[in-house]
Amino acid sequence: MKKLAGFNKIKTAVFISGRGSNLKNLINFSKKKNFPISINLVISNKKAKGLKFAKKNKIENKIINFSNSKKAEKTILNLLNKRKITFICLAGFMKILSASFIKKFKGKIINIHPSLLPKYKGLNTHKKAIKNNDKFSGCTVHYVSPKLDSGKIIIKKKVRISKKDNAISLEKKVLKKEYILYPLAIKKISINL
Ligand code: GRF
Repeated sequence: MKKLAGFNKIKTAVFISGRGSNLKNLINFSKKKNFPISINLVISNKKAKGLKFAKKNKIENKIINFSNSKKAEKTILNLLNKRKITFICLAGFMKILSASFIKKFKGKIINIHPSLLPKYKGLNTHKKAIKNNDKFSGCTVHYVSPKLDSGKIIIKKKVRISKKDNAISLEKKVLKKEYILYPLAIKKISINL
């Protein structure tokens, strides 16, 4: 049989907790010939809506109970090792991973956050930006470090906040940019993965 031309994609797991629109977007990108990653596993800490995108695309998906987070991380690590997955994208994953887990994936675990970091770490970023009358908000992709939303920044994208914006409209605007930024960040760092 003729060998297919191309390269080996980086085996990737995406961790979610909710809607999964970034997961959906990354799945679409991963289907492109020249996009550096394949999505081989989706992990959620609960019955997240976004799991439907994994199912639709026949991607292995697992709900992992985090009531005992040590045990949960052990289960995940085993799974990642078995599947030879070397890269993790967090996309709306609402659990905090332990320092020892993150250490094992140093430089190989990234997150997307809906603000211009270091501004507005944590939750309710859009509300905070509106409340403070900010002129701009945006999103950031960064490496994950043990300190929440504080790892090295890979790339950011700005959006202008108009006078008419509220937290909901701003979220929509920022999400649109997230769908551009996350794939771009992955491409940018792929040489080091
Ligand atoms: C996104 O705004 C992302 O930046 C943040 O959580 C949200 C997840 O949205 N970390 P979705 O589940 O990808 O639709």
